[in-house]
Amino acid sequence: MSWIVREEGFDPQRITNHGSKFMTGNGYMGYRGTLDEFSQEQLTAVTLAGVYDQVGTKWREPVNAPNGLRTRLYADGAELNVLGAFVEEHVQELDIARGLHSRETVYLTGSGARITFRSERFVSMDQLHLIVNRFTVHSDQDVKLTLETGIDGAVWDINGPHLKEMQYASQEGTLTAAASTQELGIRVAVAECLEGPQESGQQIAASENGIVHRIPLSLRAGASQEWVKYVSVYTSLDESGDVLAAAVSGCRQAQASGYASLLKAHEDVWEQHWDLSDVVIEGDDEAQLALRYSIYQLLIIAPTASEKVSIPARGLSGQVYKGAVFWDTEMFMLPFFLYTKPQVARNIMLYRKHTLDGARRKAAEYGFGGAYYAWESQDSGDDACTLFNITDVFTGRPMRTYFRDKQIHISCDVAHGIWEYYKLTGDSRFLLDGGAEVIWECACFLYSYACYYPLKERYELLDVTGPDEYHERVHNNAFTNYMARHTLRMAVRMMDELAEQAPALYAELTRERKGLPGMDEIREIAERLYVPLPDEHTGVIEQFDRYHQLEDISLSELKSRILQPSEYLGGGNGIATTTQIIKQADVVLLMHLFKDEFAPEIKKANWEFYEPRTEHGSSLSPCVYALVASDIGMPDWAYPYFKRTATIDLTGDSKQYVGDLYIGGTHPAANGGAWMAAVLGFGGLQADEKEVRLNPSLPAAWSALTFKIHVRGHAFDIRITKEDVRVTSLATSGAEQPFRIQGSAVNVSPGQTATFSLKGLASAGS
Ligand code: BGC
Repeated sequence: MSWIVREEGFDPQRITNHGSKFMTGNGYMGYRGTLDEFSQEQLTAVTLAGVYDQVGTKWREPVNAPNGLRTRLYADGAELNVLGAFVEEHVQELDIARGLHSRETVYLTGSGARITFRSERFVSMDQLHLIVNRFTVHSDQDVKLTLETGIDGAVWDINGPHLKEMQYASQEGTLTAAASTQELGIRVAVAECLEGPQESGQQIAASENGIVHRIPLSLRAGASQEWVKYVSVYTSLDESGDVLAAAVSGCRQAQASGYASLLKAHEDVWEQHWDLSDVVIEGDDEAQLALRYSIYQLLIIAPTASEKVSIPARGLSGQVYKGAVFWDTEMFMLPFFLYTKPQVARNIMLYRKHTLDGARRKAAEYGFGGAYYAWESQDSGDDACTLFNITDVFTGRPMRTYFRDKQIHISCDVAHGIWEYYKLTGDSRFLLDGGAEVIWECACFLYSYACYYPLKERYELLDVTGPDEYHERVHNNAFTNYMARHTLRMAVRMMDELAEQAPALYAELTRERKGLPGMDEIREIAERLYVPLPDEHTGVIEQFDRYHQLEDISLSELKSRILQPSEYLGGGNGIATTTQIIKQADVVLLMHLFKDEFAPEIKKANWEFYEPRTEHGSSLSPCVYALVASDIGMPDWAYPYFKRTATIDLTGDSKQYVGDLYIGGTHPAANGGAWMAAVLGFGGLQADEKEVRLNPSLPAAWSALTFKIHVRGHAFDIRITKEDVRVTSLATSGAEQPFRIQGSAVNVSPGQTATFSLKGLASAGS
């Protein structure tokens, strides 16, 4: 059962939550887990990766395509719909092993017939433009029904409407909907082919909102009838010719292949995905399902086929957060892809190369040099983050927030992601093809942002916002300063290597540019950038200058001051701003990222200090506490944080509103965080260009943890129990890979299995 997510019964309160929970997708598009009869009111959405549109001055956001899967059933003139009163039974299910969504509903009609409607669908992992749906209608009595199935063009938009000049047509029975986006005139086309019994009186009907097959249906008692829908989606971003023709030919070819063979091809790709990415937990079924589900969520949004898109903060679950890519991707999702699907990691990082010009424009806009990446990045890399992001629930007025202006750590996060990719894959081509330029430009930006204090003989980073967004515009946020120093040091190291190995590129990057630093300046700031150190007595790193002077209250005291459930706690007069309560992991994230720089007692001191002060107002936060707790050998402290992270989209227990801003949807950073907490945390995995380290620390209930990793082009199977660690190299040739397990070094040759006793003994065999 650890592959099935299932809900019995229908609860109208859970429609929005289930739309996220039962998501399917393939990286090209996401299909919310809504039901066949639903429309825009229930937030049905086919969200297209990387296609953005702006209407007037409203927020720019991703485009939803017309929904080719809309199906409605009528008996005696009344619609059989879960929202109506005729539901006897209802089940919704997601098979995460195969990316297959299904539902079965039994309706009782006015004349007493029991009608069973069963429908399953998949967004093909094999053919990225394709969605396939099969449904059956069964009756226990002779009945006459009407079936309507086709394309719903009334799409859900938050800041739309994004599609204009929508045209519906039928080309020899293939239904089509085609439109253009408002801002860039991107063509979007959807085509649907229907396969099933031909009924007399069947017709095609178009209206303002869509086009359907209207099918009068006579069912004998005990009989069932089945239909299959093949829906193909194209945009002019992926097809230079006629997008409508591409969509029509896509669904016709799919129909020619047939349901069974399309499903098989889709399942085969899923099998390959799981073969690379599955993590097996023995001894804890609940954790197993939650972790697999988190991995599933990452796999359905992975940009496998494009280097021009990355993963937005809400994945492909709709238009929330403007479909924008935040630091979430590099810091919380990238590790999963790096270790299990380096090709996807490459695409994600190439996206930052393609958006480098946007980052340069942003730096220039604020009067800096180099690359200041967008806090909320879309297709061009220009910042989609607005200056007024939240509405004050008390006054109804927009609140000035400084996410866009001051979270300069974003450029460090991007540079870090590129370096991690390079370290783990050894793909130096990537650096030459743009990666090096990104890192260098980020370093230049930091130089231009920093202030030098001659009397202190150091550089400082003033007026910034760290990960904890409740405290804006602070000085020397520890996380930011450490990340900046890391970026500058990486830049120095990389440039020294380039000077030797790629002198032309080196010369190009360091050519004299007005107002921008050269190598000497970057070297100097890398040495002299101030980073706050742990306090001599307490070991605590102060989150930013004068943080300790803020009011020290408990979280429950803070919460008792809340006047309205969705009031914003940060910003100018938020109630957390003047206190030590923080939104999310900040210094503790530092402890994870630079784990080799801090002694265990320092990590513990900071965990214990900041944990009671953290509100976890961001879904990015709990996994960090899990990671650091496992690192210091406290897996049972880590476990509840792991569970919280891994179940966020299963339970739906997450913030839905900030002020009046809807922020629901899936949480890919938490999904990536669940993988990190399991593999990097409990598994204690850490790798660099030299070696792979494993310092496991399994929770009490877990008897074994098994996963696969890719390092520098080689795959390894790793199995950890309380007694030993077994590493199997899946490579057939190549160099041996150094491992260090609980401090003991051993080399694993291609094809070899090595087993290490966690009681201190090591043995290797083949
Ligand atoms: C968090 C950010 C995060 C963003 C998108 C915010 O609530 O504070 O760190 O990048 O959500 O997930």
